[in-house]
Amino acid sequence: MANIYVTRKIPNDGLLMIKRKFGKFDINPENRVLSKNELLKNVRHRDGVLCLLTDQIDREIIDAMGDSCKIISNYAVGFNNIDVDYASKKKIMVTNTPGVLTDATSDLAISLLFSCARRIVESDRFTRDGKYKGWDPNLMLGQEVTGKTLGIIGAGRIGSVVAEKMAKGFNMNVLYDDPQDNTYLEKKIKAKRVDLKTLLKSSDFVSVHINLTSGNRHLLSTNEFKLMKETAVLINTSRGEVIDEQALVKALQEKRIFAVGLDVYENEPKLSPGLSKLNNVVIVPHIGSATVLARTLMATMAAENLINGLSGKMPKYCVNKDAL
Ligand code: GLV
Ligand code: GLV
Repeated sequence: MANIYVTRKIPNDGLLMIKRKFGKFDINPENRVLSKNELLKNVRHRDGVLCLLTDQIDREIIDAMGDSCKIISNYAVGFNNIDVDYASKKKIMVTNTPGVLTDATSDLAISLLFSCARRIVESDRFTRDGKYKGWDPNLMLGQEVTGKTLGIIGAGRIGSVVAEKMAKGFNMNVLYDDPQDNTYLEKKIKAKRVDLKTLLKSSDFVSVHINLTSGNRHLLSTNEFKLMKETAVLINTSRGEVIDEQALVKALQEKRIFAVGLDVYENEPKLSPGLSKLNNVVIVPHIGSATVLARTLMATMAAENLINGLSGKMPKYCVNKDAL
């Protein structure tokens, strides 16, 4: 019988699959992130661990899992929380949950885009505060979206869907920066691949959709914000560390860019000083995939990956397949 640990309760459909297959498994009974020590203790000598993006699965944790461990199933599409290279060295499979959250996350990026462009949150606050004294030609002027230029940083699954939805629905011109050509986007919506500098200079809206790696931490900082238009809106639904948040606060304070929509933060869940004071930023608590459907499908996918990995099959979404 497989010895399994689940680091936090995920939607029941996934847990039921594991239960049905293996009879029983251990799970963190509390609805909170485990401390490093708790994690160390609980993952010891397991065959498989199902974890969350809030669990830092570093060398020490992987060592604790021991030689019996075959799989780390991450309940997320991003896997920067796991030392994948070290897991590969230990011949441990690492899996993620791509695809099922693409619509949910792209929809959220678009929601943030509109919220920023049309100052929705600021307007809501203003109205609730009783400040609305009647229609005003100059009240809450924002930025037009339809027909403008959208720059996508990282044209993978989610970035491509944001691009396609905005090109088809709002007639946007799409530029993208990616290590590879995206021939689908180029054909379907006449998207153009450009370098980052060109993208930042030319876009009215910039949306970030890259995987966090050691190479792209602080990809966007003071110099990049300087390249952007003063009327530009920046959206991040990927990982917070891609943006130098302190530099961002400064850029927003100096009104170098129009507004920013953030679902993710550099030191999550902490916000950089000054960020929450600004009106030209919309901040939501990492809810990209937070629809009932997406979270349910992520749970069943994470469970399926775990079950396959423990049954001697290669899981469909193994991110280190080639390194094993
Ligand atoms: C969410 O951020 C995910 O990576 O699934
Ligand atoms: C605005 O409400 C308008 O009628 O133009």
